[in-house]
Amino acid sequence: MSETSVVIIASDSEQRAVLQVLVDGTSVARVVHSSATFPLEAADPTLQRIQSTNADVILVDIPAANPTLALRSIELLQAELPDIAVFAVGTMSQPQIIVNAMRSGAREFIERPSTTTDLLEAFIRLSASPRKVQREEVRGKVFTVVNAKGGSGATTVAVNLALALQSAHGDTALVDIAPLGHSALHMNLKPLFSVADAIRNLHRLDHSLLESFMTRHEGGLQVLAGPNTPVLVEPSTSEFARLFDMLVSHFRYVVVDASTRMDATTRLVSNLSATVLLVAHADVASLWSAARIQQYLGDAGGREKVRLLLNRFRKIPGFTEADAETAAGMKLLWKIPNQYFAVSTAIDRGVPLMQQNHTEIARAFIGLAGRLTENDVDVKRTTWSLFKTV
Ligand SMILES: Nc1ncnc2c1ncn2[C@@H]1O[C@H](COP(=O)(O)OP(=O)(O)OP(=O)(O)O)[C@@H](O)[C@H]1O
Ligand SMILES: [Mg+2]
Repeated sequence: MSETSVVIIASDSEQRAVLQVLVDGTSVARVVHSSATFPLEAADPTLQRIQSTNADVILVDIPAANPTLALRSIELLQAELPDIAVFAVGTMSQPQIIVNAMRSGAREFIERPSTTTDLLEAFIRLSASPRKVQREEVRGKVFTVVNAKGGSGATTVAVNLALALQSAHGDTALVDIAPLGHSALHMNLKPLFSVADAIRNLHRLDHSLLESFMTRHEGGLQVLAGPNTPVLVEPSTSEFARLFDMLVSHFRYVVVDASTRMDATTRLVSNLSATVLLVAHADVASLWSAARIQQYLGDAGGREKVRLLLNRFRKIPGFTEADAETAAGMKLLWKIPNQYFAVSTAIDRGVPLMQQNHTEIARAFIGLAGRLTENDVDVKRTTWSLFKTV
């Protein structure tokens, strides 16, 4: 691998010095310029100076207390110098900053305090992924399914939605991040690997390794299974961010079963989603919980993409859909009928409803998949990418 030339932008002088030592310590990269100011407009002399260095990478240090200027600068660098990869350096304790950095165009998010190994791995990943190829990659769309209350039906919805998307469009993945992964059980799959394996191998994860951790369902749906015992040490949100970057670069649609998991990871994945399907029943306690969860997930913005999905729906005299929307404080996206016998038999047998064609409930999932993809003329164009490629 040829030597990578690096520009450092950090307002803090100590951090600038630390980064310089770490970069030089990798032995595969060398600092060619460092700056204390964040360029904020195209005419900024700092920008011209950076351009003249012909650098491969710009490391932008995002201060925890005031990230705004650094994030604006990443956006400008991405727009003005699209051939240079931007790596953001920041704290992992603020998932929103990670997401914003990636959306602004950062290719990598490196934790502070950083190590030489972190940087070395990022440089290797960069050299291993020719940018021209990445530019043409598919960037898929994520749909996350969460419960308003335990047992509302998130797994049933995630599994059948994923199968409906797979049968209509192909190229679909189901990722189980629930506290205990039930989705493989719903499909009678016996996964050998799980999300945890993919995350443990992030440093060398490419498309084929990712697929080898997934279990294929007969119709082609690829399932990245959840844990089969409760997990004590959870991966960090940034590791999930990287895993999802890989998933959206490989699959057209990624359905996530979060079920009752309510933590920074579900929040991050919700942030990355085109739509979050909040599964509730049409009763007061369930709708009350839905409103609370929407608030939690949408705290950092994006509340409007959290949509209500009424499961086990049946008409109740005197209670309208508008009443449900008012109680939950969000728009109704879809309804799935109440069919206890059909649903519980499907789960017990491991033969999902979508495999039992022509039933009313299978039609409801086909309709839901259609609704979520109705504007996707071209998935590449209509979706964002987590790690914008340069
Ligand atoms: N549309 C439906 N009609 C009737 N029963 C349903 C429907 N959807 C789900 N159920 C029932 O609800 C139960 C829970 O379903 P599921 O496992 O999908 O829920 P979950 O919300 O993922 O649960 P958990 O909180 O454990 O993750 C199932 O046993 C199933 O029989
Ligand atoms: Mg579940």
